[in-house]
Amino acid sequence: MFDLIVKNATLPNGQTGVDIACAEGRIAAIEAGIGAEARQVIDARGNLVSPPFVDPHFHMDATLSLGTPRMNVSGTLLEGIALWGELKPLQSVDDIIARAMRYCDLAVAKGIGAIRSHVDTCDDELKGVQALLEVRERVKDYLDLQLVAFPQDGVLRDPKAMANTIRALDMGVDVVGGIPHFERTMADGAESVRLLCEIAAERGLMVDMHCDETDDPLSRHIETLAFETQRLGLQGRVAGSHLTSMHSMDNYYVSKLIPLMVEAGVHAIPNPLINIMLQGRHDTYPKRRGQTRVRELRDAGITVGFGSDCVMDPWYSLGRADMLDVAFMGLHVGQLASRSDMAWCFDAVTVNSARIMGLEGYGLTKGCAANFVLLQAADPIEAIRLRAHRIAVVRAGRVISRSDPVTYDLDTNGPIWTLDEARLR
Ligand code: FE2
Repeated sequence: MFDLIVKNATLPNGQTGVDIACAEGRIAAIEAGIGAEARQVIDARGNLVSPPFVDPHFHMDATLSLGTPRMNVSGTLLEGIALWGELKPLQSVDDIIARAMRYCDLAVAKGIGAIRSHVDTCDDELKGVQALLEVRERVKDYLDLQLVAFPQDGVLRDPKAMANTIRALDMGVDVVGGIPHFERTMADGAESVRLLCEIAAERGLMVDMHCDETDDPLSRHIETLAFETQRLGLQGRVAGSHLTSMHSMDNYYVSKLIPLMVEAGVHAIPNPLINIMLQGRHDTYPKRRGQTRVRELRDAGITVGFGSDCVMDPWYSLGRADMLDVAFMGLHVGQLASRSDMAWCFDAVTVNSARIMGLEGYGLTKGCAANFVLLQAADPIEAIRLRAHRIAVVRAGRVISRSDPVTYDLDTNGPIWTLDEARLR
């Protein structure tokens, strides 16, 4: 007797008519025609079952704070950082916990199973760190929350940031972060990368830096990050987030840089929603898009995962915890239009991001954690196109979120189809 069987699923690899049986929190069998009984049976009706969405880049200490204490009028990164500085002293640990818990509920209902959140380590009280460590504990049964110690004001530029970042790591924050392009000089930026990577190496931690989130083609901290990764033997444990300067770099230099990143096993985390909004602000026309070179990084063999970065906070007024919105935007900005490219964008918000975060037991094979989401879509491309409705979210073999299929308005000039019924009959 299984705990749960999901019948007649389509998998992201195109396999159809698959049954997924869950027992003791794991996938006990995944094949066609499982005859055994289960305490609960869900008929997927040919819809797509995917491993959970994974958000590899988020700021949970700031989320859902939109308008507090004021709006970001220019909508720029720098006004966002200034506004965050105004908000920080106004919020309590309990405020951050309450907003983060609300966000986690929203994320889980949207099929997100894991989030890597940066947490600001520049305030002496480490309010965000205290709050998100508490949230990590509270949500652990239904959401994997990985925290990155993030010295938002620059680990060298802010005189207390280094000590506070180390304190945050001592308190149990999982990953070492940084922001080299925000340090006072290029030399300080490079030095910050070196120091922070050494801390990670000493402690056996992963690294995830906000790296070169600028349109400056000479912002080359990713080169230093790749170098330090290799020097310290951190291959496979380091990610560069944003990497937007790569959009503006000289092609010849990039032809040297990408192989260095490959050698170092550095992962890339573009954040399409935010960077299409923030980059190119000093341009008239033509106006740069600012997204890093997703296709070229991927084709070179670098693991690329799309992150959401922000939802309703000082930097971004929109967002709804939907990784399919992120994939949709990444697809457009990167002009990833072929069938295989579009399907790859689904990987960028699922398996690729899981690999970057080092999630164990992730996937849809026997023995993996029984974590998955039933989407009202036929395949990953349709899921992105429709930002498909989440019919059920399963964690450790238990349904933790469920809602009825919806009617999609496929064509405003034509009939409205209920896909669920259309597929059944
Ligand atoms: Fe970020």
